[in-house]
Amino acid sequence: MQKFAAQTKKCGKIIGFVPTMGYLHQGHLSLARQAKKDADIVIMSIFVNPAQFGPKDDFKKYPRNLKQDCRLAKKAGVDIIFYPAANEMYPENYQTCVEVVELSKPLCGRSRPGHFKGVTTVVVKLFNIVKPDIAYFGQKDAQQAVIIKQMVSDLNMDLKIKVMPIIREPGGLAASSRNAYFSSSQRKDALVLKKALQEAVLMIKSDEKYEKNIIKAMKNIINSVSSSMIDYIAIADAKTLKPAKHLKGDILIALAVKIGKTRLIDNVQVHI
Ligand code: PAJ
Repeated sequence: MQKFAAQTKKCGKIIGFVPTMGYLHQGHLSLARQAKKDADIVIMSIFVNPAQFGPKDDFKKYPRNLKQDCRLAKKAGVDIIFYPAANEMYPENYQTCVEVVELSKPLCGRSRPGHFKGVTTVVVKLFNIVKPDIAYFGQKDAQQAVIIKQMVSDLNMDLKIKVMPIIREPGGLAASSRNAYFSSSQRKDALVLKKALQEAVLMIKSDEKYEKNIIKAMKNIINSVSSSMIDYIAIADAKTLKPAKHLKGDILIALAVKIGKTRLIDNVQVHI
C-alpha cells in the first residue's frame, strides 16, 4: 500500500482517503462519493481497530462483511481497499501512541477512556501508509472530526481534512454500522435521539437562553422510551468542545444514548 501510494503521488495524482471500520452504509459511501469528485485515486481502509475499543466494548461482535463492503465501495467510486490485519498494524513490539490530550477528554472521552487515543494513533498510521492529499471524515462523529483536525494542525501533517454531513436513514436515525444490532422495536425507539436534537434546535431558535432547560427537554424525550439509557447530553462550543456557557456562536449539541445494549451517538450543530 505504501509503495503504491508513493508511486501514485510521484505521478502527480491526488489521493483521496476514506478511513472506515467497514460494514459500509450510506454514511461511509457519501464520503467515498465526495472523494471520487475531488481526487484521482480513492482509497478506503477497512480496519476494525482494536486499539479504540475498551475491554467492555463490542470489538469481537462488531459487524463485518468484507465481500459486501467491496461491492458497495466499488459502486461508490473506491479504487482501492486497504484491509490490513491487526498484527500487521500492531506487531508484537508495537509501542507508539498519538494523543490529542484536551479534546479527547470531554463527551465520548469521558465514557470511553483511551478511545480517542486509539483513533488518533491508527489514523496517523493510516495516513503514513496511504499518504492522502485529502482525507474524509463524517460529522456524525463530531468529536472525532475536531480531534483529527487538531492533530493534523498540531503535527504539521501535510493533508486536507474534509468533514461531510451526517447521513440519516428515512425517519431520521443516523446511519451507523451498529444499527445492525437493532430489533425493529429498538430501531423505532432509537428515533428519540434525532427527536431530542430537533427539539433542542427548536428551543434555541425560539430564543431559549438556558442550556439547562434544553437538556431537560431532551432528557424527557429520550426517557420516554424504556429501552433508552442516557450516557451524556452536551451543549458545547463546536471548536473547543468546552461547555457553551452562553448560547452564542457555533454550538454543538451532542449526545450518546444506549438503546438496549447498543450505544449510539448523534449531534447537530447550530450557529447562533
Ligand atoms: P467508522 O465508524 O466506520 O466511520 C468511518 C467514517 O464514516 C467516519 O469518518 C464517520 O464519521 C463516518 N460516518 C459514520 N456514520 C456516518 C453518517 N451517518 N453520516 C456521515 N458520515 C458517517 O470512525 C471510524 O470508523 C473510526 O474511528 C476510524 C476513523 C476509521 C478509525 O478507526
